[in-house]
Amino acid sequence: MRLVLIGPPGVGKGTQAKMLAEKYEIPQISTGDILREAVAEGSCLGEKAKKYMDNGELVPDALVLELIEETVTQDQHDDGFILDGFPRTIPQAEGLDCILDRHDLALDEVVVLDLDESVIVDRLSSRRSCIDCGAIYNLKTNPPSEKGVCDKCGGELIQRDDDKPETIHNRIEIYKNQTEPLIDYYSGKGVLSRLDGSGSINEVQERIREDLES
Ligand code: AP5
Repeated sequence: MRLVLIGPPGVGKGTQAKMLAEKYEIPQISTGDILREAVAEGSCLGEKAKKYMDNGELVPDALVLELIEETVTQDQHDDGFILDGFPRTIPQAEGLDCILDRHDLALDEVVVLDLDESVIVDRLSSRRSCIDCGAIYNLKTNPPSEKGVCDKCGGELIQRDDDKPETIHNRIEIYKNQTEPLIDYYSGKGVLSRLDGSGSINEVQERIREDLES
């Protein structure tokens, strides 16, 4: 299965992608996670990406496409992948089509999750992530058993730099202007499903699985 998950910041793409990856045993590819790792390592890619990410802006298409081509063509992705947070612009979607064409591959499904802006802001303001394994928590809806400590690996839980209120609003605006046009793009290709991202984590997961299995 080659699946793309699209949706505004905080809708739950990362949370749902991790659950789907476990259920269907296919890897999650999160451009956000890869870029944050590059920033933490201080790599050349990380240095270029940092200033955009800190402001909640998109990293330039050329950089992200290079990263995706390197990643999706690795052997461990032969049986499929879940793209989380990519593509985010029309040029990225066109670039992905070219990469897949070159390797004789195609997308099976693009799932868009929708959510009210007020819920998005609330979810992001109370998100915490594990610095070691990337597990995602929420202080209100999905808290860890012990404050500040990851249930899965014991790592430290941190708040992302781009989860500050002013950056959250910028990210939502950028989603509307640059990413929402992908809804028409993929609808035109007949691979799009638009699903409600509200409700509990398990309810949203069930909705996505029903859609994929129908
Ligand atoms: P990225 O990491 O992709 O951020 P994003 O798209 O803004 O999405 P988030 O990770 O913030 O949210 P999510 O939808 O994954 O929600 P989550 O599951 O965590 O990108 C970060 C930055 O990197 C970008 O701004 C950009 O600079 C750069 N970048 C990345 N990809 C790029 C690309 N392709 N091109 C250019 N630049 C790129 O959930 C959020 C919270 O809600 C958590 O606390 C979770 O526990 C909770 N939650 C989830 N689901 C539910 C639920 N159903 N009910 C209650 N709580 C829930």
